[in-house]
Amino acid sequence: MTCVRTIAETRCHVAEARRTGLGIALVPTMGALHPGHGVLIDWARRPADFRVVSIFVNPTQFDRREDFEAYAINLNADLEFCAARGVDLVFAPSAAEMYPVPLSTRIEVTGLADHLCGPFRPGHFQAVATVVAKLFQIVAPDRAYFGEKDAQQLAVIQRMVADLNMPIEIVPVPTVREPDGLALSSRNARLTPEQRAAAPILYRSLERALQSLAAGSRSASEVRQTALEVLAEIPPLRVEYLEVVDAATLAPVETVTGPVLIAAAVWLGATRLIDNVAADVRP
Ligand code: PAF
Repeated sequence: MTCVRTIAETRCHVAEARRTGLGIALVPTMGALHPGHGVLIDWARRPADFRVVSIFVNPTQFDRREDFEAYAINLNADLEFCAARGVDLVFAPSAAEMYPVPLSTRIEVTGLADHLCGPFRPGHFQAVATVVAKLFQIVAPDRAYFGEKDAQQLAVIQRMVADLNMPIEIVPVPTVREPDGLALSSRNARLTPEQRAAAPILYRSLERALQSLAAGSRSASEVRQTALEVLAEIPPLRVEYLEVVDAATLAPVETVTGPVLIAAAVWLGATRLIDNVAADVRP
């Protein structure tokens, strides 16, 4: 495995791989790699693909300074992680390499970014779409892998690729969970033992919402309420949002009549956790 820090070296390695007839698979990350990233990398394991992992803690997508500062990554540990999983190339640029001058060009995916996390994280999805577009320009992958845990990010990227005719297949990868249901996230490491013990309530609340749908409820507010009642069992937990949204537009629905996502963001102390589940209801 090779690790490079510059765009020029990345382009050279990718061009060489293409010359030998390989396809290019990209797993974009911000480092602090955990088994959830491991599954993304495993999904990118096509025999004829050259596997690239990017590790870049993108400063522009953090809406809170303390979140950026707490985002500690250990590049050596991440490189070992990638090497053990058979990654071919790691692109780990500095902020100066990615942003030599402040950008004048940004990508805004309107609509999708207005719901769920959007109002709580101003500028976040614009920054994510922009950095991912830059990574796509640099690596020129045939396929790129994104986790379903960040369902809104996935939807924004899918829409950007479709709208801008980028010749890249976006592959959604199912959320990886701890045995107790907690979705894997780099931020889980920041939870105190008490918060960690409480955290699986988030997934349990979403499962309860699914049960209410399965039991025949079609009212989004009723489904929401059953999930919120579960979250209320942990008084220190603060709900930022819990919504039942149309799976395609991410706009809240009143009545569930087709594919929806039930998505939530909650705070446990200073740590923000997100999760979602999908449901499809046929009339
Ligand atoms: O999901 C992430 O880790 C980041 O948002 C991404 C896609 C690597 C862009 O910085």
